[in-house]
Parts: sequence; structure tokens; C-alpha cells
Amino acid sequence: MIKLGIVGLGRLGKRHAENIAFRIQNAELLAVCSIVEDEIKDAQKNLGVKYAYKDFSEMLKNKELDAIVIASSSTEHCKQIEEALNAGFHVFSEKPLGINMHEVLRAREVVGKHNDKIFMLGFMRRYDASYAYAKKKIEEGIIGRPFLIRCYGLDPVKAVQGAIAFSEKSGGIFLDMAIHDIDLARWYLGSEVKSAYAIGGCYEYPEFKKYNDADNAVALLQFKNDAIGILYVGRTCTHGYHIETEIVGTEGSLRIGSIPQKNLVTIFDEKGAVQECVSGFLERFDQAYVAEIQEFVNCIIEKRKPKVGVDDGVMSTKVAYACKESFESNKLVIIE
Ligand SMILES: NC(=O)c1ccc[n+]([C@@H]2O[C@H](COP(=O)([O-])OP(=O)(O)OC[C@H]3O[C@@H](n4cnc5c(N)ncnc54)[C@H](O)[C@@H]3O)[C@@H](O)[C@H]2O)c1
Repeated sequence: MIKLGIVGLGRLGKRHAENIAFRIQNAELLAVCSIVEDEIKDAQKNLGVKYAYKDFSEMLKNKELDAIVIASSSTEHCKQIEEALNAGFHVFSEKPLGINMHEVLRAREVVGKHNDKIFMLGFMRRYDASYAYAKKKIEEGIIGRPFLIRCYGLDPVKAVQGAIAFSEKSGGIFLDMAIHDIDLARWYLGSEVKSAYAIGGCYEYPEFKKYNDADNAVALLQFKNDAIGILYVGRTCTHGYHIETEIVGTEGSLRIGSIPQKNLVTIFDEKGAVQECVSGFLERFDQAYVAEIQEFVNCIIEKRKPKVGVDDGVMSTKVAYACKESFESNKLVIIE
């Protein structure tokens, strides 16, 4: 049984904690840590955890633990990864790896020094059944050579107040949201990005301006193999949570999530034939959040490296940061 401690019990951390407590095999949720007292109390009441901490360093003194899951604010990830690895634990960290190049490069160095430990990054879309199936089909060659990827990553407008509150610590729309699409683009196209141009603005919510952020933005990427990436990210989607990806190849194309259907039900009423949409990331990627933590636990047990590691964190941050720079300067950014 792998004994896990989690830091961060917010929107996503709470779900990871519940999954570890009830849905992950060969794992036990032994400890939780949050700076929010009520979140700790909830976890103790509902998840029956043995240990609860307000201070991350205190949790790391608990040597009954085998591994740490980091689901704290993005600004904390790199520091906590380093502290947890140095304290002798395996580490799973939520995306993004960090919010600037300096800290992600340092994190890569630290992960490299602890090669005997498992380090995994939470790009959960790779563990979603449909995204994984699309990858398999591309590898089988059914669309020929993929040369273009088009991604929609749209958060529901219902969640916009949370996004505004989160904006100061999120790293901005590219590091927070587009980073998932950047990771998918690298994964599907099998190449790294060589240049980025991004534009966007605060079309509905000027509150994001305070953090040099946008409520909607687009990035155009060129890859080293000359493939093209078109990414659209936004926080004002009225119909729900819309994650859509299209990969175009020389012999066909694949689309994942063209209509972000909640399920297979169509409601016929005075509005017509209505298919309800997925409400948010917890609903859309429910299975993927379980699968990624299960993979982390399996990797620890089987002593093998996960497919999503620190290099994916460094490369995706580099591209997201280039998009941010391009958005702020209105210039094409060449990536070294
Ligand atoms: N993979 C995904 O689909 C996905 C979705 C949402 C969020 N995320 C990522 O997960 C992370 C958390 O996002 P969220 O929306 O749950 O945030 P949130 O603001 O709702 O929660 C943050 C949590 O971190 C805790 N925390 C912050 N600093 C801490 C510290 N120094 N010590 C201990 N606890 C600390 C807070 O107490 C809180 O419990 C972010 O990095 C975000 O980018 C990923």
C-alpha cells in the first residue's frame, strides 16, 4: 500500500484527495495539508485522514508517507517539489510545473538529482480515454503525417469569478490554461515549438488586466517539423466547458470533443433538440484524474518512470511563457 500525503485541498486538490481515499487501488490517503482550516476539517470529517497539517514542511517530517501529491497554487509547485524530493518522497505535481523559466529549470535539476524517485506531472488529458485513443490512432498512421493541431480550451463563464480570484497566482491564461493544449500539441505532433505569436484581450472582464492577463486569447505556434498549432483559450464560454482538439494529417483528421456533450441524452422540447454540455473540468476529466494518480502509484510500485515527466513541464512552460511574452509585446517570439 502506497501512503500518500496531499498538499492543496481546493477545487482540484479536494477531488484528488477523494480519489486517493476511495478510488485509487493500492493507495492510502494518510495526510492532507492546506492553509485553509475549513478544508482540513472537511477532509478529516469526510475522508478519515489520519494526519492533517497547515504547514507543508511539517507534513514532510512524517516518514510513514511514501509520496506527496501537490495540488497547491501554481506559485508553490516548484518550491514544494524540491522540498518533497529532498525529504525523500516520490512526487506528483499538478500542472503547470512552475510559472517562470528560472524555477522550472531548477525543478528539472532537482528531479534529475533524485533519479531514484518517481516524479510525475499532472497533464491528465493524456490519461483521458478519448485523448489516449486518438494518440493510438495517430501512431497507427490512420491520418498519415499530422501537420496541424487546432485546440479549444474554454472555461465556463459561470466559473469566471473564481478565475479572476485565481489570476494573481495562476501565471496567466497561457500558463494556466493553454499549457494543456501545448502539451497535447507536442505529444500528438511529436515535435517542439520553434516560434509563438499570441494575441488576446479582456473582452468582457477588465478585472484580468490588473494581472496583465486576458479573458480570451489565441496563440499561433510553429513547430520544428513545420507543423502548425492554433490554440484558442477563453474564460467566457456560455454553453459550458468546451475542450476540443482537432489533429489534421496528410490522410485524414481526428476530432476529440467537437460538441462537449454531457452525455448521450438529447432533450426534445420547445427549444428544439438539446444536448446539454459538460459543466467543468471535474466532470469532463473525472476518469482521467483517477487514471493519472493510479499511474503514479503503479509507477512507484513497479519502479518505472511515468510518460509525463519534468521535461514535459519545462518544454510546455517555455512555450506558454513565449505566448505570454508575445501577448504582452505583440511580437513573434522565437523559442531557443
Ligand atoms: N489538471 C487540471 O485540469 C487542473 C484543473 C484545475 C487546477 N489545476 C491546478 O491545480 C492547482 C490548484 O488549483 P485549484 O484550482 O485547486 O486552486 P485553489 O486555489 O482552489 O486551491 C489551492 C489550494 O492550495 C492550498 N495552498 C496554497 N498554498 C499553500 C501552501 N503554501 N501550503 C499549503 N497549502 C497551500 C490552499 O490552501 C488550497 O487548498 C493549480 O496549480 C492549478 O493550475 C489543474
